Amino acid sequence: MVNKSIALHNKVLKGTITVPGDKSVSHRSIMFGSIARGITTVSGFLPGEDCLRTIEAFKQLGVNIEQNGSNIRIESDGMDAWKEPEDILYMGNSGTTTRLMLGLLAGSKVHAVLSGDASIAKRPMKRVILPLRDMKAHITGRQDGQFAPLAVKGSELQAIDYTMPVASAQVKSAILLAALNANGTTVVREQHATRNHTELMMKQFGVNIDVADLVISLQGGQKLTSCHVEVPGDLSSAAFFLVATAIAKNSEVVLENVGLNSTRTGILDVLQAMNADMTIEPYESDAVEKAGKITIRSSSLQGTVIGGDIIPRLIDEIPIIALLATQAHGTTIIKDAEELKVKETNRIDAVVDELKKLGATITATEDGMIIEGPTTLTGAALRTYGDHRIGMMNVIASLVTTGTIVIDDADCIAVSYPTFFEDIAILTTK
Ligand code: S3P
Repeated sequence: MVNKSIALHNKVLKGTITVPGDKSVSHRSIMFGSIARGITTVSGFLPGEDCLRTIEAFKQLGVNIEQNGSNIRIESDGMDAWKEPEDILYMGNSGTTTRLMLGLLAGSKVHAVLSGDASIAKRPMKRVILPLRDMKAHITGRQDGQFAPLAVKGSELQAIDYTMPVASAQVKSAILLAALNANGTTVVREQHATRNHTELMMKQFGVNIDVADLVISLQGGQKLTSCHVEVPGDLSSAAFFLVATAIAKNSEVVLENVGLNSTRTGILDVLQAMNADMTIEPYESDAVEKAGKITIRSSSLQGTVIGGDIIPRLIDEIPIIALLATQAHGTTIIKDAEELKVKETNRIDAVVDELKKLGATITATEDGMIIEGPTTLTGAALRTYGDHRIGMMNVIASLVTTGTIVIDDADCIAVSYPTFFEDIAILTTK
């Protein structure tokens, strides 16, 4: 870990960038391409560390994957041809790889062991393992399967009818991926809509999946047909520059090819509610994942209340929304977001502790945080907790601090946004 000094105070942001590919869609493109027999190609893939872990894991399962930047070619003989990995599958920092692979491996013909970094070792896995065990999966792990390392022995699975106790696309997706290999029709019932990339990609690969509002049904035994996947830019990465531009002075930034899937656009609703000067222009296309151009300018912001159904639609954006709220007039309340405690780090504590070091008026609550603004922020030495989104929040904060910010681990940002500092340089060079 190397300290990095960030001195962006009073910088103006101007220009156009195309943020890297969507992390969730990139992971799934590798998984679906590895399940389907034939050749799948992917463009716009995110070559971030998390998604590279997914590629490595499927290579260990014997799938032929070639990566050339953001272009991928996957050649697979189908899931039945996966070979038993000789070594552990290393998940790094990636919760999505870990949880979705558990669902897939549960109905495979192989035995595999999944392990990851210190953050992965602390993330709750029973939320996935309990429904998978209901499907007759054989999975063990520390504390009866709550924590990695985890071992999966592929077996015959039975369909289930499952009501989700948590709003989690990773849990939903793990069950749906297992359902592909289960006997019978699996039904997943959500209480709050979560990102639907798995459902959309299943349809794209020719799977007959029924989505009726919050109830998803899928009959097992279906084969996937390989195809081409186009990954849009990641709105969760764009979010850092949407906020950066809104809080910086005299700035205007255009973000091209940003994913606009409505299960992800909570941040745009919040920016609008907070009075951001922003224009969204969806592209006309028949792409599976919608995308568009967003123009954002320096804004005079108002506080707002964020809670309920919108939370899963912006869960990854809460750290940067908290920074936004420090520059808005009035009170911002973020509630119903206790899931933040089980992300790459406890993001309620991390956001509140780091923004407090900068002088923000922010209080942690049981399920979120309360922020009073606007406040003048000062420079400080900040921690990332090895969490890419906390790292990027710290860097963007330095646009509105009076002094320099030092962060302890800038490298963790490469998990989801390997070209983050290059994009900052593009926008701050006049
Ligand atoms: C993801 C789902 C979300 C999100 C994560 C990616 C996915 O996690 O926070 O970054 O790709 O399915 P949860 O399902 O745990 O909410």
